[in-house]
Amino acid sequence: MHIVDRLKVYRFHRNRCHSGQNLNHKMQGWSTEEEQRIRFNAIANSAEFSHKRVLDLGCGLGELYDYLSQRDHLTFYLGIDQHWLFLRKAKKRIGTSRCRFRFADISRTSLPDFDIIVASGSLNYRTRQTDYLECMIARMYDAAREAIIFNLLDKNVFSESNLLQAYDKETVVSYCRTLTPNVTLIDNYSASDFTIVLKKTNTAG
Ligand SMILES: C[S@@+](CC[C@H](N)C(=O)[O-])C[C@H]1O[C@@H](n2cnc3c(N)ncnc32)[C@H](O)[C@@H]1O
Repeated sequence: MHIVDRLKVYRFHRNRCHSGQNLNHKMQGWSTEEEQRIRFNAIANSAEFSHKRVLDLGCGLGELYDYLSQRDHLTFYLGIDQHWLFLRKAKKRIGTSRCRFRFADISRTSLPDFDIIVASGSLNYRTRQTDYLECMIARMYDAAREAIIFNLLDKNVFSESNLLQAYDKETVVSYCRTLTPNVTLIDNYSASDFTIVLKKTNTAG
């Protein structure tokens, strides 16, 4: 992602942290806590997370770790984000030997091999790189041992802004099918969002 676009993302979250909207979900760009929770729920139900190593790209405050850990025992979780404040808070709150955080640009850092790679809310930012989404999906798929799961805003419903970009779900699914036939679209949990799952094996979930 171009540095100017990343800076725009950084500033957006920083302004939300400093504008009296000092609530976790608001800082991370969610309009309500429920918006975040329904996405986590769709992710959690889409694969078997128990005893898995999970990489969370654009992890924010790492709250997906909390959500998944309440349901399953994760072997290891690594959250990556470019936002300092989020990572500092996340580390302070949940840094353990099984849960780590790393500062990096998810579009450039080399992605370590993990069982499941997730991106919740982090692929919706507008960027001048026209194939940004396809590149991210391909990199995630290469690095994942079992599955990748990501959500996106739905172009048919969501009005795009200067910051956020929405996608046509069928177009994204078609691209994913060039990587594997094992693609699932989940679009029954939110009016404006959908989740896509690519699996490498026929694992449960
Ligand atoms: C909408 S928030 C979602 C946070 C968390 N995944 C959740 O679901 O609550 C998106 C996050 O992606 C991060 N992000 C976006 N683009 C990024 C990039 N290129 N590198 C690292 N982090 C990025 C932002 O800093 C932000 O924390």
